[in-house]
Amino acid sequence: MWSAINFKNNNRWILYISICILFLFICTSLFNITLDDTIKPNYLVPFADELSTKPTNLEEWKRMHYLVNFLNNEQNVLIYVTPKDSYKSDDSTKLKYKFDKTLAKCEVPCIWNEIRIEDLTSEELKTADAIFYVNQPAPLKSKAWKGQKFIQYTLESATYYPQYHDKNKLFDIHVTFDEDSDVPTSFIRDPEKWRTKQPFDMGKLPSSSPPISLIASQWTDFRKSWIPTLKEHIPIASFGSVHWNTNWDIHPECADLNPYEIKNCIISKYPFHLSIELSQEKDYSTEKLWDVFNSGSVPIIWGAPNSRSYLPHPKSAIFIDDFPDVRALADHLKYLIENNTAYLEYHQWRTMKEWSEGFERKVYMNIENMECNVCKEVARLRILEGRGNLPQFPTVLENVENDDNNL
Ligand SMILES: *[C@@H]1O[C@H](CO)[C@@H](O)[C@H](O)[C@H]1NC(C)=O
Repeated sequence: MWSAINFKNNNRWILYISICILFLFICTSLFNITLDDTIKPNYLVPFADELSTKPTNLEEWKRMHYLVNFLNNEQNVLIYVTPKDSYKSDDSTKLKYKFDKTLAKCEVPCIWNEIRIEDLTSEELKTADAIFYVNQPAPLKSKAWKGQKFIQYTLESATYYPQYHDKNKLFDIHVTFDEDSDVPTSFIRDPEKWRTKQPFDMGKLPSSSPPISLIASQWTDFRKSWIPTLKEHIPIASFGSVHWNTNWDIHPECADLNPYEIKNCIISKYPFHLSIELSQEKDYSTEKLWDVFNSGSVPIIWGAPNSRSYLPHPKSAIFIDDFPDVRALADHLKYLIENNTAYLEYHQWRTMKEWSEGFERKVYMNIENMECNVCKEVARLRILEGRGNLPQFPTVLENVENDDNNL
């Protein structure tokens, strides 16, 4: 009798324990699945706090990159770039590589491999630290391993191309014009040449010539409605399909150049250039603004509400929004055409020793070194997630170990 009861009890206990184990098993596996998506920084990594704090100014960016270069310890970063086409425009500088196929001019050794993702074998995908997507709304494949990074790159307006701005958090690293993105990237090109450009010589403006140039090919509401109202007060030479009225060959000396130089050459023929972006978004300034400085012209800006803070100098451009109406703007432009001293004030920044901090930061993080900055970001996460190959520096590691023993 007793033994029978005991046996029954034992049986019940075995059942209870089994249920508990099963329950725990299910819980932990569920837990593991949710943990898989995020990798926690490893706080035993030296400088982990500094490495996980987003830089806010030029000095902090330089310090961050210095730390990353040091801690990365010459380890290669391998990034596959997809799709192969439509990533560089025909007027951008070609990437240069070293003999070992790493990017030239990048402190972190980085293999930047432009290839269609469809052409990669799963073995090749496994070797990649990151996959770099250009103007893609979502990754084309799933991750080959847990710590692999998906990067989304776009410099397109979020108003006009919301699909390229990862609303669903499908990517790990975001590279956009926005300072809040992981690798903020500006459209600034060749700023070292800007000092050498002579201000437009107002004496050389033919009386028949419009004083303003415009090169735009995409219609927006603002471009459609506002430009004609300015034109009622002051003539505009438009070379793109938006309000086109002038042929490129009107300036034969610009004809035989490459597309980037042709545009700059055209812009340099007029004292003002209409720099009207697609939308007004924080930090959104394209070549439509920056390339104007590479001529002796003055940009007339409609774009990022914070653009004044990152121009080389607050008085290097004219802001449409500073004027109560179009007539007031036109009057100011006419005044500058008549008063050369006042016009030259918009060029004084060219000879100034220092340009604004906001501008220098945007230069440091510009489109020409975007690839290298992306490599550094991938290296940063690799270090922070404890997958790096840290250099030997005994004191720091010793301290870390001591802390560990005390726990
Ligand atoms: C021309 O501009 C200068 C500099 O802004 C100013 O001092 C001067 O009074 C202006 N001259 C006229 C005639 O408006």
